[in-house]
Amino acid sequence: MRPDTPLPRPPKFELPPEFPGAAWYGEEELAAARRVILNRSPFRYYGPAFGGEVAAFEREFARFLASPHGGPWPEETDLRVTAVNSGTGALEVALDALGVGCGDEVIVQGFMWIASISAIIRNRAIPVLADSDDTLNLDPEALRAKITPRTKVIMPVPMLGGCARIGRIMEVVREVNAERAAAGLPPVRVLEDCAQSLGAHARGVPGSTAPAAPDGVHRVGTFGDIGIFSLQINKNITAGEGGMVVTRDPDLARRVEALHNVGYAKDAVPAQNWYGDDPLGWGQGRRMTELQGALARVQLGRADTILAAMRASHDRIEAHVRGLGLAPRGRADAENPGDTGYYCCFRLPDTDADDAARVARGRAAAALLNEWGLRAWFMHDFEVHVYYNIQPLVEKWPMNNGCPWECPRNAFHTLHGYARGTLPRLDDGLVSTVGINIPSCLTPEQEQSIMDVLTYLRGTLGE
Ligand SMILES: Cc1ncc(COP(=O)(O)O)c(C=O)c1O
Repeated sequence: MRPDTPLPRPPKFELPPEFPGAAWYGEEELAAARRVILNRSPFRYYGPAFGGEVAAFEREFARFLASPHGGPWPEETDLRVTAVNSGTGALEVALDALGVGCGDEVIVQGFMWIASISAIIRNRAIPVLADSDDTLNLDPEALRAKITPRTKVIMPVPMLGGCARIGRIMEVVREVNAERAAAGLPPVRVLEDCAQSLGAHARGVPGSTAPAAPDGVHRVGTFGDIGIFSLQINKNITAGEGGMVVTRDPDLARRVEALHNVGYAKDAVPAQNWYGDDPLGWGQGRRMTELQGALARVQLGRADTILAAMRASHDRIEAHVRGLGLAPRGRADAENPGDTGYYCCFRLPDTDADDAARVARGRAAAALLNEWGLRAWFMHDFEVHVYYNIQPLVEKWPMNNGCPWECPRNAFHTLHGYARGTLPRLDDGLVSTVGINIPSCLTPEQEQSIMDVLTYLRGTLGE
């Protein structure tokens, strides 16, 4: 609980870097990069001594996603992976493959990363915000009311390693799709933006129209029609940059493969005539390099070790936060392994104070934690992870030709706004919540030091 007497200021201490994957870089990553360089074959489809690193990573990532935490990777899986050059690229290609364009709505949560929104805009569709629950992710119950005949895709974004109630979201989507089928409407599709949550598990039944896998615990990114991931340096495993697009649907997989490679799928045509025939659309240049692929393979082998360490530290620190009488961010699935533990978010005590006072309090709490280098964020100020902090969204900035706002097929955009106040439940969560990063290689002493700073913070807060 809150300490009764003012506490002495804890001493300063050192923390390891926050970048989980990069913190584990070592000889194996060096050997992998060396292999590609000595082969002089950094391109994913061919080269003088071509190593097929990206293709191998794609197969291994599919097997990883089909595996239980720490368990064996199955030899066979129906998941298909296309590696791309970034998570942003993965989102743009995925939305394109799902057929998103002018006249479409994409439902997305208001706590995400700007790329989740920019990918919708760049595909010329209109983002529709839906409110969040105590996980700060998409609220399944708020979702239903946002679905219209124009809805093409629903995009949950499990943030900071914490899952949405994705099992319930998929149930809602299947119910909606049954109604749409009866009304002669096409199904809505689900694109999971799991850039921040590689390796998290959640419970439920995957599949947007019919069950695609049994009821149970699955890795996030395998519940919807497509899941995407990122290998950028802040992520659980990293190649500096990189992304993955995952689907069970062979037609979608082929479209993704083509759209990331100027419109041509490689499996369909002879190796010497790759760009000769069978185009699938206007594609992009989003290929992953062999260097990225080789690094990613090593990192993938470390993923469950990194996750186990992060989760263990997170759970101990979260238990301490709870013991201080502060409410941690809601967890979709309290069962282990669940969330990845990348961040420990908690609500400051409830208060009747006005908005300005709550903002000042959140800023002061984060500033205090950052005096000890805890890499804390007050969620309201969490840059372009928050819808109302994205100026081009709030002000509806157009792209060069005026799209998406000036497109006649998007005239309905006037129904949608993006200013603060649009999502009351999320707004309340953001203005009440502070979070700290949990590195994946904390010593017990460092964990204790973090807890001491949190105890000190608690002593400065009201009941
Ligand atoms: C939720 C989310 N989506 C998409 C992205 C984009 O990934 P990238 O930085 O690899 O382009 C990020 C990451 O940075 C992210 O956090």
